[in-house]
Amino acid sequence: MTRGRDLSSLPRMIRTVIEGLGHYVPPRVVTNDDLAKVMATSDEWIFPRTGIKQRHYVEDGVGASDLGVEAAKMAMERAGCTAADIDLIVFATLSPDVCFPGSACFVQHKLGCKQIAALDVRTQCTGFLYGLQVCDSLLRTGAYKKALLIGAEVHSTGIDFSDRGRDVTVLFGDGAGAAVLGTAMGQGTLADRGLHFTKVAADGAGAKDLWCVAPTSARIPRLTHQMLDEGLQYPTMNGKLVFRWATEKMPEVATLALSSAGATIDDLQWFVPHQANLRINELVARKLGIPEAKCWNNIERYGNTTAATIPIGLSELQTLGKSRPGDLVLMAAFGSGFTWGGALLRL
Ligand code: UT7
Repeated sequence: MTRGRDLSSLPRMIRTVIEGLGHYVPPRVVTNDDLAKVMATSDEWIFPRTGIKQRHYVEDGVGASDLGVEAAKMAMERAGCTAADIDLIVFATLSPDVCFPGSACFVQHKLGCKQIAALDVRTQCTGFLYGLQVCDSLLRTGAYKKALLIGAEVHSTGIDFSDRGRDVTVLFGDGAGAAVLGTAMGQGTLADRGLHFTKVAADGAGAKDLWCVAPTSARIPRLTHQMLDEGLQYPTMNGKLVFRWATEKMPEVATLALSSAGATIDDLQWFVPHQANLRINELVARKLGIPEAKCWNNIERYGNTTAATIPIGLSELQTLGKSRPGDLVLMAAFGSGFTWGGALLRL
């Protein structure tokens, strides 16, 4: 009689697992044709180059934490937990409600959580993956039991609607995604539920190729009328350079995620890339050899919601019944910093 492999002799492994996912976008839809009414652009320019048809914008008075709270409520409901169960909030954003304190503090208060740890992660498009690695490390040490990780952005209040800003403005939208994270014991194999790999990195040599200068702590005062006249409060981007880096770094980190975990493209059910430009994602998927049917792209409806794109994608896949528990999901992102990252997760 052949004996099966005795798994009880293998070291068991604590893994970070996603217990619940949620997402939220504000109701107001702004199409490419709507933007063409206020600046020199067109659907004919935007859609073929980016894959974007529309994005959602907040109304005046709604900040990133408000969007994050809505996504968090959905994630907590799906996780079957309440605000009282959360002992760590990590809020990834480049558009915090105010300069300080971080938006995680607003979320803690708005949700009515206990007096728990609450911190912001400021790594732009890669924010959710950086946040995932932070939560993963803190959960697996046992320092915290249940983390609420949010990626949320309000871009519409901070972009240039004059012709000067059209290259950047047409790309971005508002939205939020959230995950409730806990831990589970696995067998140390690829079959385990939970996170199998995270890797994040940065190269500040590219910092000025996608950035927003004002207000700045390096100037006295931080914001002047002259700076406003020059539009320094708006993001600027070297689009072609960002495109080139993104299509190099995303495949690189995704390949590392798969090889480190001993997985192949065939093992994957889903690739959920950051949503900056559909053309970037098509090229990344082609380089990796991932079939189109396994790639989740929703940029057509939301534009680039920066730190929110990946959790919105994960949550949407579940909402639409397209992902199932046990699916293996690859994630990759690239953005301002430059920062980039990858993760491999079994739902
Ligand atoms: O999360 C990371 C965030 N960003 C990215 O990943 C962005 C990566 N880069 C890109 O997606 C592309 O570079 C863009 C889609 C942003 C731009 O495409 P491009 O082919 O690099 O265009 P370009 O910036 O070289 O501009 C081509 C032309 C220019 O006109 P001229 O000089 O040829 O007369 C621009 O002024 O298109 C013009 N243009 C526009 N025209 C209509 C730039 N933006 C617009 C616009 N509407 N919105």
